[in-house]
Amino acid sequence: MNGEDLRRAPVSTVSVQTEGDNIIPEPGEEFVSTPYVQDLAERSLAYLEVGYPVHFSGPAGTGKTTLAFHVAEKLDRPVMLIHGDDEFGSSDLVGRDSGYRKSRLVDNFIHSVLKTEEEMKSLWVDNRLTTACKNGYTLIYDEFTRSKPEANNVLLSVLEEKILNLPKLNRNGDGYLEVSPDFRAIFTSNPEEYAGTHKTQDALRDRLISVNTSHYDRETEVQITMAKSGILRPEAETVVNIVRKFRGTDENNHRPTIRACIAIARILAHKGGRARWDDPVFRGICRDVLGIDTAKAAHGGQPVIAQKVDEVVQKVCAGGRKDIKAHNSAKETVIKE
Ligand SMILES: Nc1ncnc2c1ncn2[C@@H]1O[C@H](COP(=O)(O)OP(=O)(O)OP(=O)(O)O)[C@@H](O)[C@H]1O
Ligand SMILES: [Mg+2]
Repeated sequence: MNGEDLRRAPVSTVSVQTEGDNIIPEPGEEFVSTPYVQDLAERSLAYLEVGYPVHFSGPAGTGKTTLAFHVAEKLDRPVMLIHGDDEFGSSDLVGRDSGYRKSRLVDNFIHSVLKTEEEMKSLWVDNRLTTACKNGYTLIYDEFTRSKPEANNVLLSVLEEKILNLPKLNRNGDGYLEVSPDFRAIFTSNPEEYAGTHKTQDALRDRLISVNTSHYDRETEVQITMAKSGILRPEAETVVNIVRKFRGTDENNHRPTIRACIAIARILAHKGGRARWDDPVFRGICRDVLGIDTAKAAHGGQPVIAQKVDEVVQKVCAGGRKDIKAHNSAKETVIKE
């Protein structure tokens, strides 16, 4: 590995180095591993070690991509990353002919006869799936249901028969490639009802072990919020309580996600504010970050964005103060005893 070729990208949950087209993930300082996260990671790693592809399936913001990188890092192989795309065809995964190479041979020995031979060779360019299969890398196919199901058909034989079918005109003319025994695949997807996703064909789904992700438990959310923003635990708890209260009012229990906790906490830390009702900076951030999620709610035809946010923030902050008072008086009682 050439040190100069490596670029460190500031992805803090998993730090990544890139070398050519592949990624070398490394443990990131901000990755939070609570029992919930550990359990998910250990289960998935076991499936991958046995040779099964793993599929993290769940709503937005439930840690699928982060987990995929985390588990890939444990496999200790370079990673090829692909993002699902509606415009994808299978050549975007496998590779394609990319024009022709012209080579010219000039016979220098017989100067009297200037012999020139020209050869046109078709140039084949491997894409990431082919490179991962050939070299035994870990493939992370993020949001794979955003690609059309037919673009993903090529994966069926890769995952089952360990053979990658290549278009006939690839550079060896082989038509297929044997998948390296070290090749592993991790998929992520949002539920099928999400806009912009396609229904996965049963044959592909049947080859994957799907691990369902849901929103993290409260303690994990508090720890992630602290790790990502640097705010203290009581403040992080208030932020998480507010976001979870909102989520409880969402009909699908999907939004707001942990991203809202992180955003509020980071801006709060940047502005030097406190997670308290009497801090106007905090109230403003909450209105802006959470407003989007309540914008659809209407009361008498009027959107009730700011009021609803204020109500929840006030209620949670008041509850938090009561908890702290109760906690302190319990401590005093113990000391007196
Ligand atoms: N274990 C963790 N430790 C630290 N941060 C985490 C952890 N899990 C998730 N996060 C953070 O939570 C946020 C959401 O996680 P992530 O992007 O992995 O979710 P996702 O399920 O892939 O969402 P989407 O479906 O929208 O792509 C990110 O900012 C991520 O860094
Ligand atoms: Mg993701």
